[in-house]
Amino acid sequence: MESGATGWSPISRVNHPERVGERVRVRGWIHRTRSSGGIAFLLVKDATGAIQVTARRNVLGDEAFLQAEKALVESSLEVEGEVARDPRAPGGQEIRADRVRIVQSSEVFPIFAGQTEEFLLDHRHLAIRSTEMGATWKVKAEVLRAAREYLDGHGYFEMTPPILTGNAAEGGAEAFSLDYFGRPAYLGQTAQLYLEALIFPLERVYSLTPSFRAEKSRTNRHLTEYTHLEAELAWAGLEENLRLQEELVVHILHRVARERSEELRLLGRNPAELERIRTPFERMRYEEALRELSARGFSLTFGQDLGTAEERALTQTRQAPLFVTHYPREIKAFYMLESPDDPRTVECADLLAPEGYGELIGGSARETNLESLRRRLLDSGADPESYRWYLDLRRYGSVPHAGFGLGVERLVRWIARREHIRDTTPFPRTPSRVTP
Ligand code: 4AD
Ligand code: MG
Repeated sequence: MESGATGWSPISRVNHPERVGERVRVRGWIHRTRSSGGIAFLLVKDATGAIQVTARRNVLGDEAFLQAEKALVESSLEVEGEVARDPRAPGGQEIRADRVRIVQSSEVFPIFAGQTEEFLLDHRHLAIRSTEMGATWKVKAEVLRAAREYLDGHGYFEMTPPILTGNAAEGGAEAFSLDYFGRPAYLGQTAQLYLEALIFPLERVYSLTPSFRAEKSRTNRHLTEYTHLEAELAWAGLEENLRLQEELVVHILHRVARERSEELRLLGRNPAELERIRTPFERMRYEEALRELSARGFSLTFGQDLGTAEERALTQTRQAPLFVTHYPREIKAFYMLESPDDPRTVECADLLAPEGYGELIGGSARETNLESLRRRLLDSGADPESYRWYLDLRRYGSVPHAGFGLGVERLVRWIARREHIRDTTPFPRTPSRVTP
């Protein structure tokens, strides 16, 4: 926050025309540096922004000037001086320093332009300092804040379901298994089953947890560990589920557009594109999607899943998210409710992000009938015995309910226009990388 007489000012507040003539104290890191003829120009950054600092030998004295002049990029420092107008400096202002103290000098920073992707991933702990990445981390934090703000404000209780679990269970997706004191256990792929249990005392619940998928898919939208925002609501079917999802997503988009417009622009996203998006989102049944795809040259028959290419084709020319509903039962998870009007399909929807980005959310109404659920488990090749506790939820006063899971990194990838999902998370976990 703002400094008192002895405090430190955030750089973004200092680099402002209204501050010209004021004495300020800032601290941060050297982003760029050059010197000529007894003047050192240091571009100094902190978490809020950057400002040029000019340090003159005849003001600082020989020793302090030398320290400032020879300090390398990423050295940390404190600066005191007067804000002055300088149209050539980034942001339009500079600090004319009368005191510069190098807090800790940096060795030659290994990250610079032109390095390979592998090198940057090996040095991810340092690469995350870049301006672009910093902007992405701020956008992601805003997405999480906005999601919590919406759900907390609409009667949802935030829950802390376990990550370690004895049930592998997200139909199809592979689970990481581990040795749990001699018994098999897994890293959770979804909190859904636990959230379903929690609707009984709380009716509306959500959680934000890491989810794990042991898929060896090397795509630009799969991580092996990702941030999963899941919600479950009692007394709801497909339509209530879709309304919750679209309102939540629009709330997030508008808040991020408002609070992080500068970062979005830096990342190549015009905030107005997000502000234009409103509810309701377009809804399309799976069978209609097949027809649209066939018009675009794809030949899929009923029962085939939509992959990355199909999702891209469906969303490339759209400007707002699209719900694809009523997928065939066989390609979706065992817990999804059969459609009352068509037993071949289930009451589910995937929310697809526009501009080719594809799946953001998977959700459905849940099967509440004990016998149907047991049959679906058997059909899917699972052992109903290992789901005994989950089946119990259908024995003691179940109600219609529905829920969904949103991939936070998928959402950030679209909002921040990142080509690869790994650039939406500081320390990405992919099949080939688990360090740093
Ligand atoms: O569609 P999924 O597998 O659905 C579930 O796990 C449900 N049990 C959620 C629920 O109803 N509570 O995963 C939900 C979302 C996907 O739409 C996608 O955005 C994201 O999680 N996701 C991934 N994100 C990054 N990397 C991966 N490997 C992902 N797998 C799924
Ligand atoms: Mg899915």
